[in-house]
Amino acid sequence: MKVDVLLGLQWGDEGKGKVVDVLTPSYDIISRFQGGPNAGHTLEFDGKKFVLHTIPSGIFQGDKANLIGNGVVLDPAIFKTEIDKLETAGHDLTGKLFISKKAHLILPTHRLLDAAYEQAKGKEKIGSTLKGIGPTYTDKISRTGVRVGDIDINFEAKYKAAVDRHKQILDTYNFDYSNLAELEKVWFEGLDTLKRFKFVDSEQMINSAIKEERKVLAEGAQGTMLDIDFGSYPFVTSSNTVAAGACTGLGIAPNKIGEVFGIFKAYCTRVGSGPFPTELFDEMGEELRQKGHEFGSTTGRARRCGWIDLVALKYAVMINGVTQLIMMKSDVLDQIETIKACVAYKIDGEETEAFPYSIEGEVEPIYAELPGWKTDMTKMTNEDEFPEEFNNYLAFLEEQLEVPIKIVSVGPDRDQTIIRYND
Ligand code: GDP
Ligand code: IMO
Ligand code: MG
Repeated sequence: MKVDVLLGLQWGDEGKGKVVDVLTPSYDIISRFQGGPNAGHTLEFDGKKFVLHTIPSGIFQGDKANLIGNGVVLDPAIFKTEIDKLETAGHDLTGKLFISKKAHLILPTHRLLDAAYEQAKGKEKIGSTLKGIGPTYTDKISRTGVRVGDIDINFEAKYKAAVDRHKQILDTYNFDYSNLAELEKVWFEGLDTLKRFKFVDSEQMINSAIKEERKVLAEGAQGTMLDIDFGSYPFVTSSNTVAAGACTGLGIAPNKIGEVFGIFKAYCTRVGSGPFPTELFDEMGEELRQKGHEFGSTTGRARRCGWIDLVALKYAVMINGVTQLIMMKSDVLDQIETIKACVAYKIDGEETEAFPYSIEGEVEPIYAELPGWKTDMTKMTNEDEFPEEFNNYLAFLEEQLEVPIKIVSVGPDRDQTIIRYND
């Protein structure tokens, strides 16, 4: 038995939460392997909508085990708000949510450091979600982090040592942390909620599951273009969002990875700073934003919108070894006369289809144009109903990306998902 991985191929917010929820009935364990509450994964079903930040998206489909893996960074304060909302809506996760002892804790001072670093960057801001992600991973790599497993072992001393160190840094930035006591109060209440759940040796749990032929789905956060190594550095997040991240973020050997589901929008969005070659600054960009409700699930910020970028997507398919593609938000393009797809970049007068070292500076996208389908896709239930132009768009993308598109999403609801059987 192998672990399947589902991850974003663009700059995040591709619709990972929705598809993980749809696929959950075929799996026994759903696990997050990296990122933290910078993620916002939206699920809609039965007229209800939930946004998950730390908790895996497999919690609404029966009693599947959901695991927060060692590669995740976890903020107890945000975790508590998620749990409270779910419990108010009648979803009790006791007994089905497991947390890796090796996951690192986001402390209140990590969030303050995130804000201090961003402020100091001035115009060069990353556009961080300010959830403390970067500083927490920094401590992990510096070998000074505090882990979930530490909660039971000499926790107070470890917490204090970290906070004292963070305060010294904040002082050098002249950053006001007079609200720390307030943040800590909420954080320690969160810690009490966290302690109600089972802390596990998650790598043992996953590998035993594999041995027992139980099926595991690994849920990515962010997207490939935000990966710390392969994204548009430095405008990236602080973890490996790519398929390899599932190995280190869960303790799975590379030969245990099975399918890699690569998920992308029929167009492209990005939230926060950084280069975005196909970004649209005109009415078309605004149309995509309004029709696609492109406002951040975590911060509410307007997402930047543009045409699909096949140079970046091909790169993402390569880095991740994608075996199946999933196309989201097809319905957002329903009324567009002519759809554009970037097939190459022109940089310094030279055309390239290979994703370059840097996409900062002048990158001119070269577009192919395809006729739109001018059809309401939202009510479709079967691929036989697809209009010819839509099938042509799919065929064009498959030819470019050399991987089949197996699932097409035509609306935010769980039911608005079409599995394709024709290869
Ligand atoms: P994630 O971070 O990858 O899980 O994606 P987000 O939840 O941040 O953003 C995706 C947004 O698109 C959410 O508001 C979803 O409800 C919505 N969505 C997902 N699939 C579709 C679709 O096929 N059509 C439309 N119109 N909206 C969708
Ligand atoms: P999901 O899982 C979209 C972006 C931020 C910022 C950069 C660094 O919902 O797809 P960070 O807080 O990680 O230091 O921010 O990464 N970013 C996301 N953009 N979707 C996300 O997650 C994101 N998580 C972080 O906007 O540009
Ligand atoms: Mg999101």
